[in-house]
Amino acid sequence: MVELTEAFESIFKTKLAELLRTNRFGKSIYVFNELDSTQDYANALPITQSVHGTIVIARKQNVGKGRIGRSWVSPEGGLWMSIVIRPDFSADNIIFTQFIAALAVADAIQQATNIRSRLKWPNDVLINEKKVCGILVDVNLESKDKKIVVGLGLNANIESSLINNYLTADTTKATTLREEYGNDIDLVNLTKSIVDRIEYYYNFLSSGKVLEIIELWKQNSDMFGRRAIVYDGIEKIMGEVVDIDQDGSLIMKLGDDSIKKITYYGNVTFR
Ligand code: BTN
Repeated sequence: MVELTEAFESIFKTKLAELLRTNRFGKSIYVFNELDSTQDYANALPITQSVHGTIVIARKQNVGKGRIGRSWVSPEGGLWMSIVIRPDFSADNIIFTQFIAALAVADAIQQATNIRSRLKWPNDVLINEKKVCGILVDVNLESKDKKIVVGLGLNANIESSLINNYLTADTTKATTLREEYGNDIDLVNLTKSIVDRIEYYYNFLSSGKVLEIIELWKQNSDMFGRRAIVYDGIEKIMGEVVDIDQDGSLIMKLGDDSIKKITYYGNVTFR
């Protein structure tokens, strides 16, 4: 058993390192058979062991973390990964780390399956209106060890019933690549594509091309013109999704035609 575990970790890591064509992302890779949470692991890595682009992957997570304090069901077969970013861009643009991660995931899904997934603000990737990937961004810019950790939970080769059984009624239903595509996907290749594309989009961010990121994100979303309910942590706002603002907020038109900007913490469901 121990040998099999070690084999998974080293085979995954070696194959991924061989495949990657990046300059900085994935130069340091940690792969585990099992972790409580790749996000916690990446957050806790000392500065010397977490250069920009460091990747942490687990075959399964025991205490996977989702947004807004939720848990994240993470059995074997999914892609559970956290990436350390040492930001060289303005703190005002942090919200766009989740935009670039979502774009990267959408590109990788298309490459692997030919399925065009759709993005839902702030950070979900959907197929047929169901969530296939969630993104969690932890930011620590206070200490000397300034870093952003981007966590990706991609339901790849698993059954959605494993996840849906745990969801509350108001959450978007989950789907998986296995169910949408009809086959299992090679997780190393999928990881390689995501990491390649994250580096590609990260270069937009570090060169200040935020408007380009927003435009690309919008092209990959079909939220606009739809009626939605947004819960921003304080109140439920009903209206039509109109646009994404230059600071990454969601712009809604309310029933009385007034415009409301929703910042990052909003959670959107369609009516
Ligand atoms: C969401 O709630 O939509 C975000 C889910 C993010 C889950 C990923 S899985 C890899 C990383 N490790 C965690 O514990 N969470 C993130």
